[in-house]
Amino acid sequence: MFSLRFLLLFLPLTIFAQSPSNTLNIIPQPQSVEAKKGSFTLKKDTRIYIPEGQAGWDVPAQYFASLAATSTGYRLLIQPMKKFKEPKGNAIHLVLDPSITSDEGYRLEVKSNSVVIWAKTPAGAFYGMQTLRQLLPPEFGGTRSYGSVKWEATCCVITDAPRFGYRGMHLDVGRHFFQPAFIKKYIDLLAMYKYNTFHWHLTEDQGWRIEIKKYPELQRIASCRNETLIGSYGDQPHRFDGRKHCGMYTQREVKDIVEYAQKRFITIIPEIEMPGHSLAALTAYPELGCTGGPYEVATKWGVFDDVFCAGNDKTFHFLDDVLAEIVELFPGQYIHIGGDECPKARWNACEKCKKRMKDEGLKDAHELQSYFIRRIEKLLAVRNRKLIGWDEILEGGLAPTATVMSWRGTEGGIAAAKAGNNAIMTPGSHCYFDHYQSDPAIEPLAIGGFTSLEKVYSYEPIPDGLTPDQAKRILGAQGNVWTEYMSKSEQVEYMAFPRACALAEVVWSNKERRNWTDFTRRIQQHFNRLDASGVKFSKSFYDVTASFSNNKVTLKANDPALEIRYTTDGKPPSLNSPKYLSPIPITKTTTLKAAVFSRVRPLGKSMAVQYLLHKATGLKYNMTVKPEQYTGGDEYALTNGITGIIKLWKNWVGLQGKDLDPLIDFGQPTAFTKISFNFVNAKGSWIWPPKNVEVLGSEDGTNFKSLATKSFNADDYQAEAVETVNLDTPGAKYRFLKVVVRHHGVIPKGEAGENNPAWLFVDEITVE
Ligand code: ACM
Ligand code: ZN
Repeated sequence: MFSLRFLLLFLPLTIFAQSPSNTLNIIPQPQSVEAKKGSFTLKKDTRIYIPEGQAGWDVPAQYFASLAATSTGYRLLIQPMKKFKEPKGNAIHLVLDPSITSDEGYRLEVKSNSVVIWAKTPAGAFYGMQTLRQLLPPEFGGTRSYGSVKWEATCCVITDAPRFGYRGMHLDVGRHFFQPAFIKKYIDLLAMYKYNTFHWHLTEDQGWRIEIKKYPELQRIASCRNETLIGSYGDQPHRFDGRKHCGMYTQREVKDIVEYAQKRFITIIPEIEMPGHSLAALTAYPELGCTGGPYEVATKWGVFDDVFCAGNDKTFHFLDDVLAEIVELFPGQYIHIGGDECPKARWNACEKCKKRMKDEGLKDAHELQSYFIRRIEKLLAVRNRKLIGWDEILEGGLAPTATVMSWRGTEGGIAAAKAGNNAIMTPGSHCYFDHYQSDPAIEPLAIGGFTSLEKVYSYEPIPDGLTPDQAKRILGAQGNVWTEYMSKSEQVEYMAFPRACALAEVVWSNKERRNWTDFTRRIQQHFNRLDASGVKFSKSFYDVTASFSNNKVTLKANDPALEIRYTTDGKPPSLNSPKYLSPIPITKTTTLKAAVFSRVRPLGKSMAVQYLLHKATGLKYNMTVKPEQYTGGDEYALTNGITGIIKLWKNWVGLQGKDLDPLIDFGQPTAFTKISFNFVNAKGSWIWPPKNVEVLGSEDGTNFKSLATKSFNADDYQAEAVETVNLDTPGAKYRFLKVVVRHHGVIPKGEAGENNPAWLFVDEITVE
């Protein structure tokens, strides 16, 4: 009766429904899914049966009933059943089945008048319920009542169990505090995607967020900072908002959240940071620092020299008292004690710390850190708890039973597994959801990096080079959400979703069941589900990516079935712009804009890239030192026709303490009058302006003539910015062109990275 256009316009929940298949879009992908004919309809008189006399089975049933109550308005009755018999009438049966091998596994059968979920434990039944939820329309489990929806689930048989026992998501509430209601929403979302661990990062330099009854100054002083840095850390000079930022969870709230999580089969791992990232605690109790203070709760981001004193027994008494209260609140086996980013400057200068090193026979401050962690490990062991720490706890010797969270790459996890310790993989490259997920030019400010949905999805938690026994030490993986640049819960949702959906499949689904193309189909259905759940997720999935080679631009959308429209006249793309069908030839310097469109509107953001067509575009060159880490994306990035933008370091060609000196061969004598290039000034990231630049010409590639030079005074460059350099070479005509961009040298005292060689970041050597 209604035209398709009408439906697309007026049913917001269908805007992402690109795929013809509206069923069996389960994330994470189960071990096996077999669709059948027909469907089950959830009705107001559908009953949920649970095994009689078995503890905990009412929990998954109650959870499902509560989802149903909000979105369908049905009050589903839950009833114990002595012995499972073939279902009669419209019902959902949870059935205890000891023959299911995985504690978290289940088997689900949807028939036209019944749903049966077999599991060994209530957790397995809960995951079966989450799968059933995903078989129902996306509005099921939504935040409001949807009167007109027919609650159908396609008939099917599903067998499922997780690949990893540790499936985690983290949230930093130290940099910004989030209300208990949001923590619960976050936990609900994790549960929907079958995560079983929430790593709650509770203490930071910028704020201590959990009530400790014995230390009231933590609440009075450490839970508040005076103001907060505005904008990027790299923007100079630093500006502040002048507003207090405070917040702390009372023990009552914590208990309530822990119980809430338990009902969703999520264990909370609290993190109490030590010895570093402890400035807030030191501000409240300055006697715990090496200098005795005074200290101030941090108002900007970074790593701070003031840390807990390792030579003072008061520190260990304080932490023991804190941990005593923590273990009462969190029943899980693990306590995270941080351990990352602890500078050793104060310890090396502190009489108490020096005495400790001498008395304990520790050869340096790294061994003192190891001593610190081992001592805490013992305090936890007395309380029957296990220690987790970031991979720095490997330095100076790993505590015997510690679990390592590998974040600076995978090496920490590998080293831990080889040492016989357990490890959780959370490398920055794939698991840091504070990184950009799309082109930084069109994304909200983030800390940096680039971790697209596809990159998260591609992550393999078991690193190469482990024996099967060592591989068993890899418990799973985790996504981290650090909140320096997320002051509002909507921003957390934007950064965490849908990337958390991709990681959920990495940690739950069998490796051979993972398929990016199929995921791109399913995730678009889940956008409707996230929408109904009131999640402000990122739609960067619909952003276009572009690549440039042989003077042609290739555009790509995550789902090849999506329509891309583009312009080359500088105007924003619209429904009337040409459709992208094949690579676009670039015949002059062009700004290309493109976006993905539904039939009625853009689905993603509009991207813009300038392609430079100049005399060196597409030419190869040689350099004395080839960059390894910052390659600019391809071997000849300096002449690929695209220049980097700030924040996306991967587009820049960068070297540390070395010169960039591309030697370009035009193949024949070529006239040129102007050489230009861009460089990055970002001293906070150790990236400095060049010391000088020289342009040289040569007929034979051996004998060079200097054509132009320019020197740079680093003091002239304060703001974090991309700077353009132009050098005139009137009347020059040579076959070979060499551009020597010399690095700044050693970073002076008082600047970030002092005494280290400066980085030099350059892109696109433009020849006109
Ligand atoms: C970390 O990102 N400092 C663990
Ligand atoms: Zn000390």
